Amino acid sequence: MAMDAKYTDVETFLHDMETEKLVSEMKRYVQHGRVSTYEHCVSVVRLSLGINRAFHLNADMDSLLKGAMLHDFYLYDWHDDDNGAHKWHGFFHAQKASRNAKKYFRVNRKIQHIIESHMWPLNITRVPHSREAWIVCLADKYVSFFETVFGR
Ligand SMILES: [Fe+2]
Ligand SMILES: [Fe+2]
Repeated sequence: MAMDAKYTDVETFLHDMETEKLVSEMKRYVQHGRVSTYEHCVSVVRLSLGINRAFHLNADMDSLLKGAMLHDFYLYDWHDDDNGAHKWHGFFHAQKASRNAKKYFRVNRKIQHIIESHMWPLNITRVPHSREAWIVCLADKYVSFFETVFGR
């Protein structure tokens, strides 16, 4: 399984993610505007690497790549009503994504933490406490803002 490898190169990583059936499933769900959850996660991967490089943060590359790619790995469309199941999406999806990442890819605690804390400060008690978690948390806010405002 691709997720078992240790990655240092973003293009190799993204190429392998294309072949992961469950990761590709995120293409079916809308994140913001016309952007799928998959495209959103790829944008967060790329911006996270950009932030790491620009500020010389020396993040652990494998954790950063996987945490960024799986941060919204909750596997549903939050715009669907499903009898109110996703009403509290903003508050609960990070935990759901982390559970999925652990269940399907056995990701370690460091990666689970990146996923679980990406919605801080909305999830006020889930404060990022690693540099990788801070990077993904910031990259997600930036990418989400532009997707929401410009629809891409
Ligand atoms: Fe999210
Ligand atoms: Fe996100």
